[in-house]
Amino acid sequence: MCIVSLRDERLIDVNEVFQEITGLSKEQALQIHAGDLTIWMHNDDYENLKKLIALQHRVINYETRIRLKGMTRTMLLSAAVIWWQNMPCMLVVVNDITELKHYKQEISRLDRLNLVGEMAAGIAHEVRNPMTTVKGFLQLMRSDAKYDEDFETMDLMIEELDRANVIITEFLSLARSKTANLVRGDLNTRLLRLYPLLQAEALKSDIKIDMDLHETAAIMLDESEVRQLVLNLAINGMDAMPHGGILTIKTFEDKYGVNLIVEDQGTGIPADIMEHLATPFFTTKEKGTGLGLAVCCRIVERHNAYMEFDTSTKGTVFTIIFPKCKDGTKPVRVSSEKG
Ligand SMILES: Nc1ncnc2c1ncn2[C@@H]1O[C@H](COP(=O)(O)OP(=O)(O)O)[C@@H](O)[C@H]1O
Ligand SMILES: [Mg+2]
Repeated sequence: MCIVSLRDERLIDVNEVFQEITGLSKEQALQIHAGDLTIWMHNDDYENLKKLIALQHRVINYETRIRLKGMTRTMLLSAAVIWWQNMPCMLVVVNDITELKHYKQEISRLDRLNLVGEMAAGIAHEVRNPMTTVKGFLQLMRSDAKYDEDFETMDLMIEELDRANVIITEFLSLARSKTANLVRGDLNTRLLRLYPLLQAEALKSDIKIDMDLHETAAIMLDESEVRQLVLNLAINGMDAMPHGGILTIKTFEDKYGVNLIVEDQGTGIPADIMEHLATPFFTTKEKGTGLGLAVCCRIVERHNAYMEFDTSTKGTVFTIIFPKCKDGTKPVRVSSEKG
C-alpha cells in the first residue's frame, strides 16, 4: 500500500510490505515520484491510472504487471482519492495475483489435456477391434502348413499385438471417464484370490511370496481394480528382484485405516527418477509400458485411499491406506467420480 500526493505525485507514505517488495526504505520511497518507480513494466500503466483517477476518482482491480526483484508479477491495483494531511491524495492498494493466475492457466491447460485424453481413449478403444481381427487371422495362418517357414515371425507378430493390447488396456484404465464400482468388502479375501496368480509369476524368477494378512475392517473396494493395483505393484517388486528374494504382501488396520503393503527386496528406486514415477509412459525397463504406477495412482484416487512409498538399496515398500467403512453401513454402490 502507498499514499501518493496528487499535487506533485510524490509518495507520502508506504507500508512495510511496500518496502519489503520494492527493496526501498521508507526514506528512499518518500523521495520518489510515483511515475518514476522502476517497478512498472509499462510506463503507460501509470499514465492510465492517473487518467482513471482524474475521471472517476477511483480505480478498482486494474490488472498490471510489475517487476519485483527481477521477477514479473501480475498485480491487481485499486486506488481511491482521499484527503490526507489536507492534501488530495491517492491511496493505492496492490494485490499480487501471480499464483492465482498461474493456477487458473494450469486448470485450463488440464481441461484441454483431459479432452485430449478422452479423445485418445476413444481412439485406443477403436484400434482394438481391427487388432483383434489381425490377431485372429495370424493365429489361423499360423496353424496352416503353408506358412510353416514363417511360424516364428507370426508368433512374434502375435506377441507384439498382445503387447499393444496390454498398453491399450492400461491406458484405458487411466482414462478419466472410468469410474470405480465400490462395494463394501474384505480386502484379505480379495488378496487371497490373487495369490495363485502371483505365485505363478514368482516361480519364474525364484521369488517367494509372503502373505502376511491380519484381520481388518471392511473397506469400499472395486475388486478388479484392487487386483490390478496389487498386481502392478507386485510385478514391479518382482521386476526389481531379478535374482530372487521375498515379496511381502501385508495387511493390517490402524487408526488411519486399512493398510495394504507391498514390499520387495529389490534394488530400490533411484532418487533421480522418483519424481517421474507416476508419469504415464515413464519406464526404465526395456519392455516396460510405464503405465503401471500411473494406473495405481488412479485406482488409489478412485478408492479415496492414499499411497506412499519408502525405498532404499535394500528394497521398496509401497503402502496404501484405505479408509475404513463405518460399522453398520450397508454395502452400497458408489462412484468415486461423482462430484
Ligand atoms: N518396486 C520397485 N522397485 C524399483 N523400481 C521401481 C519399483 N516400482 C517401480 N519402479 C520404477 O518405476 C518405473 C515405472 O514403473 P511402472 O509405472 O510400473 O512402469 P513399468 O513397470 O512398465 O516400467 C519402473 O520402470 C521402475 O524404474
Ligand atoms: Mg510396472
